[in-house]
Amino acid sequence: AQQGQPPVAMPPAPAQVQPLSPAGQPQLPPGFVWGASTSSYQIEGAVKEGGRKPSIWDTFSHTPGRIADGTNGDIACDHYNRYPGDVELMAKGGFQAYRFSIAWPRVIPDGTGQVNAAGLDFYDRLVDKLMERGILPMACLYHWDLPQALQDRGGWHNRDMAGWFADYARAAVGRLGDRVKPWAMLNEPSVHAIFGHGFGNHAPGLTGWPSYVMAQHHQNLAQGTGITAVRALRSNLKLGTVFSLQPIYPASQDPADLAAAQRFDACWNTINLDPLFKGSYPAPFENVFAQLVKPGDMEAIRVPVDFLGMNYYGPSWIKHDPAAFLAQAGYGAVPEGTPRTLLGWPISAQGLVEVLTRLRDQYGNPPVFITENGACYEDPAPANGVVQDPERVEYIRAHLVACSEAIRQGCALNGYFAWSLLDNFEWAEGERRRFGLINVDFATQQRTPKASYLYLSQVMRAHAAAR
Ligand code: NOJ
Repeated sequence: AQQGQPPVAMPPAPAQVQPLSPAGQPQLPPGFVWGASTSSYQIEGAVKEGGRKPSIWDTFSHTPGRIADGTNGDIACDHYNRYPGDVELMAKGGFQAYRFSIAWPRVIPDGTGQVNAAGLDFYDRLVDKLMERGILPMACLYHWDLPQALQDRGGWHNRDMAGWFADYARAAVGRLGDRVKPWAMLNEPSVHAIFGHGFGNHAPGLTGWPSYVMAQHHQNLAQGTGITAVRALRSNLKLGTVFSLQPIYPASQDPADLAAAQRFDACWNTINLDPLFKGSYPAPFENVFAQLVKPGDMEAIRVPVDFLGMNYYGPSWIKHDPAAFLAQAGYGAVPEGTPRTLLGWPISAQGLVEVLTRLRDQYGNPPVFITENGACYEDPAPANGVVQDPERVEYIRAHLVACSEAIRQGCALNGYFAWSLLDNFEWAEGERRRFGLINVDFATQQRTPKASYLYLSQVMRAHAAAR
């Protein structure tokens, strides 16, 4: 079969999906890696099993008023107990790779000190199951579930986090590094800093500029320290980290909006990119960060990576608001007529090409994996064994075509991981906002494939057949 052509047998699917028409379908090169992503707190549940202790997200989600629908991650997708079935769904769908995150509060429940073997046992079982089904595991060490015990010692405001993170990274890699080769240090440090430590609508719920700045610098430092620590432990690993990247546009040509957009671009994108690839903070903030940066810090952060993980959802339009932490919150500045998802997020597949060409032109074209891409929509109930989500199918199709285009333009894009394998606990939105390729009924834990899962399967099988 040719790439992008309607191929081969689908997995035994109860559902009817439209056959692919070759026009407008992605054409990714041989060797391109196809996967799906999840994160520990969003899917695992079992928050008290195997010696796990609370994370900042347990504390936060149990604080009344913090989560839009009052849910929490206590059970989530119960993936801790149901992982064999979930891996089976990946295998059936034809996924080659799976990005998951490891919960620090399982591995070192008090944050520092004693390593909890039982916590690592879970990931050991998961990794074995993945390998058994021929699925490449990619582990992310930190997807926002900091041990509460560390928050009690200042969390990301504390410089010591860099060393604590390195100890934790060594423990995880020491146990799993014989089988897991690609390792991502952090997930979206700028988002964790902005929402968790600036706006305060994510755990740990801290607010304000100094809080944000400390959280950002110490994450950068932990990322670099972690890479160096793990590199010394094993030489055959692929080490990287995951950033959320997006085009930032001003809401208008008003100088105040232009300046706000520039600041926002720095805080969202270049505050992560510049230290890692250039060893400096972006111009608007050099002086701000100078107060925090100790001799040797920038060298510790600027270390070679084997890959960059890029999470891409869409662009932002930024409007100045003197009273707000960074800029006007919300989506008021999005131009009329821009297509959006249920969360109000603007959709632009072209924006993905823009970010990748920026990496190509300004950051030395590092090898990139799209480690997350996906969309939230109101899904109908399952009917005849499938959930019809045509908008999500179209979102994924358009972004895969954008991946093809970026590669055509010389960007070093090596793979695509959809967010997310399963409907899950969507942070401050709770369980009511769904990004999954697979529907989860949270009352029964029943899994039902969506049309988007079937579509992606079809695309992946077409590419596999074309090899
Ligand atoms: C990025 C985050 O990494 C992930 O945890 C989240 O669920 C998705 N964005 C969707 O908001």
